[in-house]
Amino acid sequence: MIKITKTEHAGFCFGVERAIDRCNAELDNRMGANPIYSLGPLIHNELVIADLEKKGLIVKDYDKDFFHNKKVLIRSHGIKKNIMEELVDNGNEIIDLTCPFVKRIHNIVAEDVKNGYFVIVIGDKTHPEVEGIMSYAFPYVISVLNEDEARAVIDDNKDKISAGTMVSIVSQTTFDETKNKKIVDILANLFYNIKVNDTICNATSIRQKETRDIASISDVMLIIGSKNSSNTKKLYDIAKSFCKEAYFISDINDLQNIKFDEGARVGVSAGASTPKKLIEEILNHVRTNF
Ligand code: F3S
Repeated sequence: MIKITKTEHAGFCFGVERAIDRCNAELDNRMGANPIYSLGPLIHNELVIADLEKKGLIVKDYDKDFFHNKKVLIRSHGIKKNIMEELVDNGNEIIDLTCPFVKRIHNIVAEDVKNGYFVIVIGDKTHPEVEGIMSYAFPYVISVLNEDEARAVIDDNKDKISAGTMVSIVSQTTFDETKNKKIVDILANLFYNIKVNDTICNATSIRQKETRDIASISDVMLIIGSKNSSNTKKLYDIAKSFCKEAYFISDINDLQNIKFDEGARVGVSAGASTPKKLIEEILNHVRTNF
């Protein structure tokens, strides 16, 4: 028999749960067939989105000409400041489900820029959350993704910053804590005056720590969630580096080619956008078939 251990905080985080609950309530209470739009998928999980679409949610990318007098949900990652302003100017009814922890970063960078800081965002500049954060500090902002980019940050941005620049550092909420610390240490050696803001989400760090702890005592790790979800991908990376066998599981079919040895210790973790229903389904399948 195999032995399964699941992380305590697998699945929806506070910000995602809040967004999904509110979206469901809006869809249940909508008048007639009036559509409700979300700018991009409300969360990075196809199963959850498909359920919401069945109830009447329309997922659509931002289009300035289209979004006039519509009802629009803003997802937990937040959106760019200029898009929010255009939505307001064009008479849209906005239900802002930006996670309060992301909103806090918007406020920090806007305030720090006002106070003369230049902002460095540690994170992936192509991720909507980082795009949103950067827009609140624009144009006094750049991003770094890894240690190499951090080391080269002054050379690569000579026209914007120097060692004497007052620098405020924030991090993408889902950034890996260990990598973040290394990058902050590099930046601290490059600038005389830095303000480090701790903005990695608690839910993320707890989930990452639990995944690390369980991965290091497991023979096999299963990370459940969508391949589009960056926080789930990070859990998978962590699992891979602490456990010799790790699998990314998006649905039951992904279990097909996996074999567990008799008595194997199987660790299970799941990203912040993974619904409980899917976690239970995978756990039941593993319990009954292996
Ligand atoms: Fe918010 Fe943290 Fe989730 S920032 S959306 S509670 S991972």
